Amino acid sequence: MNPSDSMGYAAPTHPTNSPTPPPPHSLSMYPAISIRQLNHYYGHGPLKKQVLFNINLDINRGEIIILTGPSGSGKTTLLTLMGGLRSVQAGNLSILGQELLHATKEQMTLARRNIGFIFQAHNLLNFLTAYQNVEMALEIQDITAAEADTRIRTVLSAVGLEHRIDYYPSGLSGGQKQRVAIARALVSQPKIILADEPTAALDKKSGRDVVEIMENLARKQGCTILLVTHDNRILDLADRIIYMEDGSLVSRSDVAAIAQ
Ligand SMILES: Nc1ncnc2c1ncn2[C@@H]1O[C@H](COP(=O)(O)OP(=O)(O)OP(=O)(O)O)[C@@H](O)[C@H]1O
Ligand SMILES: [Mg+2]
Repeated sequence: MNPSDSMGYAAPTHPTNSPTPPPPHSLSMYPAISIRQLNHYYGHGPLKKQVLFNINLDINRGEIIILTGPSGSGKTTLLTLMGGLRSVQAGNLSILGQELLHATKEQMTLARRNIGFIFQAHNLLNFLTAYQNVEMALEIQDITAAEADTRIRTVLSAVGLEHRIDYYPSGLSGGQKQRVAIARALVSQPKIILADEPTAALDKKSGRDVVEIMENLARKQGCTILLVTHDNRILDLADRIIYMEDGSLVSRSDVAAIAQ
């Protein structure tokens, strides 16, 4: 990507032979995520502490971004703000054109419907099978039972779990559980995936495998990914790497040079 595009409105990064149709004109007018002068604080009164400082960032549709940086630098805080899991206090943050500053609960809920979340701890429900865990993510979707069934089986096959569909989490390896979590995040075909250290509990091979699966599925669906990681071994999978230090962003688009 051209360095001048790092904060701008670059063309989609899909290869030209991508099966993903271009977004409708009206939707292509704004980035997937747009952040201006974002500040964030924890605590109140004398304990109030600023943790994000003047964040400015545009993430284009279909981009795969890795966000990295030292522990405590504010990555999870930023991710939860982008996901509508935490209220914006100061500055502007819009998701697919929807402003989250002063958003109502209903508007936050609607924004979250466009987002698939994947966390370090896969957060599967132990009393549900792989199939049922994925099915839960479809409950708010307006689709028929037959279509839901097809989608669940297709996405579980896509992550290589067609033979584990009826297994409970206790019968799955760490990598397999994380793949169920990816299937669950992708089954509703969200426009944005936010993943917080999805490979932290995995060995090198499984970690890379799950990110590659996520990336391939997301590219097919034209989905934007923001992935927080400390894992240097997967940096090359990103279109762009963003560094966070002490609550501020340092953006670089020359991924190839950094990943070497
Ligand atoms: N709920 C909270 N209340 C008060 N302070 C918090 C809270 N959550 C995080 N912090 C503080 O905010 C700062 C940023 O934390 P955050 O979890 O966003 O960092 P991080 O970059 O995700 O770190 P890590 O790589 O360890 O996950 C840290 O100083 C942390 O102690
Ligand atoms: Mg974190």
